[in-house]
Order: sequence, then C-alpha cells, then structure tokens
Amino acid sequence: MAGNLREHLVAYFQQHQKIVEAGALELLLDHSHPLVVSREVIDRSGEVNPFVTREMVENVLSEEGSPGPVARSRGDRPPGPNEPPPGAATLPFRLIQDGYSGPPTGETPLLAYSALFHSRFRSLSRLLRGRPGLDNLRPIRELRMSDGACSVIGMVRDVRETPQRHHLILTVDDDTGSLEVLVPKGSPGARLTVLPDEVLGLRLEFGKEAKRLPRVVAVERPDVPPTRNVGRARRPIRAIFLSDLHLGSRSFLSENWGHLADFLHGRGPHGEMAASIDHVVVAGDLVDGIGIYPRQEKDLAIGDVVEQYAELGRRLADLPDRMTIVVIPGNHDAVCPAEPQPALPTNLTRGLGPNVRILSNPSTFALEGVVVSAYHGRSFDDLIPAIPGASYSRPTEVMKRMLQMRHLAPIYGDRTPLAPSGRDGLILDPAPDILVTGHSHTYGVDRYRGVLLLNASTWQAETEYQRMRNIIPVPARAALVDLSTLGVQTLDFSAGDPQVLEVAG
Ligand SMILES: [Fe+2]
Ligand SMILES: [Fe+2]
Repeated sequence: MAGNLREHLVAYFQQHQKIVEAGALELLLDHSHPLVVSREVIDRSGEVNPFVTREMVENVLSEEGSPGPVARSRGDRPPGPNEPPPGAATLPFRLIQDGYSGPPTGETPLLAYSALFHSRFRSLSRLLRGRPGLDNLRPIRELRMSDGACSVIGMVRDVRETPQRHHLILTVDDDTGSLEVLVPKGSPGARLTVLPDEVLGLRLEFGKEAKRLPRVVAVERPDVPPTRNVGRARRPIRAIFLSDLHLGSRSFLSENWGHLADFLHGRGPHGEMAASIDHVVVAGDLVDGIGIYPRQEKDLAIGDVVEQYAELGRRLADLPDRMTIVVIPGNHDAVCPAEPQPALPTNLTRGLGPNVRILSNPSTFALEGVVVSAYHGRSFDDLIPAIPGASYSRPTEVMKRMLQMRHLAPIYGDRTPLAPSGRDGLILDPAPDILVTGHSHTYGVDRYRGVLLLNASTWQAETEYQRMRNIIPVPARAALVDLSTLGVQTLDFSAGDPQVLEVAG
C-alpha cells in the first residue's frame, strides 16, 4: 500500500488529536481523495471523541457524491505507462486535494463569504488548539477580567497603532464574539507583522483596571510542526518544477524551451539525469491569456485564447510522453480568477496529451508518496506590500510566511480575488513536503521546517509591462528534485545544454 500516504494520514489525524483505527485507514487509503474524506470525518467526529473508526469513514462515504476508490476514479483515462495497477505499491501520482470545491451555492454572497471565513477559522483554530502556549483557552464571549491569564484564538479583523505610544491594537473575532487587545510596543508580539484575516492564538493578561485592554504576552501562528515525517520516494525518481510558460506571448522563450525538451529527451551531456525524471509540474500562467493587463494585445503572438491552449498542447507534446505533467492555472489562464481557481475546462484542454493531469489552483498531490502543494502565487501581490522587507526577488521568504499562517492567500478584498465557498481551499492542511509557486517570474529554493520551497521561474522574457512595474524576471530555470532525498538541482536553460547552478537550499 501507499506507505508514505499512510504516514501522512496518521500524522494528519494526530495533528487533530485523533487516533485513526487500522480499518478506517485502509478505507481512506483506497479512496481517491483521502484527505478530503479525512477532513470531513474530523469535522463530524466532534472534539470529545478521540477515535476515528471504520464505521465513521463508511458513514461519510455513504453520503458523499465525491469520486470513489482509485480504481474507479481512473475511469476518465487508462493508467499511464509509468502507473502500476490499482492496489500496487506507492502510486507515481495521487491527487490528495483539489483547492477548488465547486461553484458557490445559491446563497447570497454575504452568507457564502461568511461560510468561507467560518471554515477558515474552524480549520486553523483546530491546528492551534491544545498548544502548551495557549492554556486556559476561552471563547471570546466568556472572557472575564477575573480570568487573569488566559488564551484566545481569533481571526484578525483590524490592526491599528495608537497615535502617541505606538502600541498595536488588534481586533480579533471568533465564533462567539469580537475582542480588542493591546500589543505593547517593544514586546515580542509587536515584532510580528500581523496580517488582516490571518488566524492567531493569543496569550493574554488582564490588568487590574477594568477599562484597560487585555495585553498580548505571546502570539502563536498555526505554523508547520517543528518535527514531522517528511515523505520520500522509495526509488531515485526525479520531478522537474516549472512555471509561467505564457504561451501565446511574443516573449515566450521558444528557443530555451527547445533546450529543455532536448535535455528531457536525454539529448546532450545530461542523459542519465534526464532518464530519472518522471514528473513535470507547471505552477500556472500556462498561457498569456487575453485582456489580462492594459494593451496586452501588442505583446501577443497568438491573439486567440483557444489557439494559445492549442499551442500549449504542442509545447507540452515536445516533452517525453512517459512523463506525468501536472498543470494548474494561474491569473493569466482562462478560468475564473477568484481563488481557488477551477481546473481548465475540457474545451480548452483537448490538445493536451493523456499524460497531462489538469488540476485546480491550488492543488495538493503526491508524487511517489511525496506530498506537493502547487499554488500559482497571485497572493504575492498582496503579501509583498504588506510584509516589511518582502520582495518579488525573494519569493520563498513570503512562502515561509504562508506556511506559518498555514494559508496561501489570507487577505480579503485586495488584489487576490477570493471565491466564496463553504470550504476554504487555500488552507495548507496537511503541510506539504514541497510547496511550489510561480507568478513572480523569479526563482528561489529554500527550506522551512522540513518543507522544500520552490519558486519555479518563467519561460517568458521581460515584457514592457514588467519593465514598467520594475519586475526583473529570472527566466528559463527549472528546479530538479530527487524525490527520494528531496535534494534540489537548479538548471539554467538560457544557453543550450543546461548549466547546473549552485542555489542555496
Ligand atoms: Fe506569470
Ligand atoms: Fe501570474
């Protein structure tokens, strides 16, 4: 069975203070969306019952209309050349979670957004509950001055600074009410940049005077556990991570793409390395799209979006068809821009080969048992201006912050449109082994608490629009990851055969 996925599921339940029985685990491992079902089981099991039984999983499965076991979910296409039959050892590819959970229901937008934020609060507060640093945890409505020292978990509604002493005042909400707290200037909490709509655990102290706000003495973010099992493939198979192809743009780097295709086919000095690559991941902005920015038409070589996707099909067909190619959309792609974005529709993907997996943005999947979360990265446009010192040239610093918040795009109402949905699909749960983004058109490799962070470059040269916005791209690079060690090599395709670069990480 899928050993690494099994460990991930057990760890996932442990994180939620649940013990999963063996029979329940087997049933979950046979399902095509085990984490979606697991989350539902946890939601329904309540806080008191620590056990997850086979019967509880069966109950959820009997009611859901989601795809069934792996063998059935493959009905849309035959197993690929590298895929073992159902039930065999670790699958080369396994979808764990679609960020996109369907269009909003018939509710009013206000109700739908309220459901979204409740879902976010519930999911992230579950990760914070039970922490030693958050003892005497209380719902906001039940807080009393007589509590002395206590803790709350809240979603940040507002952050402001007092005019004279420059203390911070946070307004946070939970399911029961709203609270203002003071973060004194110079205290550890004041050194953090608190973002709107993130979920925090706050350790509080009440003073003796009734009109004084409770003071924050410590702040806990959901974060990634400091120690955990990291997934590893059982064989030395590699995956190559790319992003931001922008097909249809005049600036698409056709020649460099040719070098990449030559390399992957084993033509040139790195044939042995290429032979070990079975997976390609492309983190969005597959095409340049139309009408994405002012006067884009003059930058387009292909002015018809259907034709742009036909060209995408031809370019992906340049790569060896033994490779599984995972693609997610980005903000230039022809799907609804609100995140999570759905997978590309079938009318645009007819030209893509049977080896191409077309997923939503974000998506979490396992490659040889290694859990990968792929997110295009539109929220960089909101997070970079909001975090002092953050920059498009160092995207992995912002990705660390995403892991600390366990959320890819928390800020509502800015440049990243959020889709109203009953489930917040932008939460990072489980924490992946690899988090890959694009969008910044730069390149970065880093690690955070065992998670490999990749920002996967671009195949578009600098455009006039980017020059105007002072974005200096780092194109034609690829991150090559050995899935058995999570070691990374950076390949630069800017001139013929790839140069292997030394990049920290
Ligand atoms: Fe892009
Ligand atoms: Fe983008």
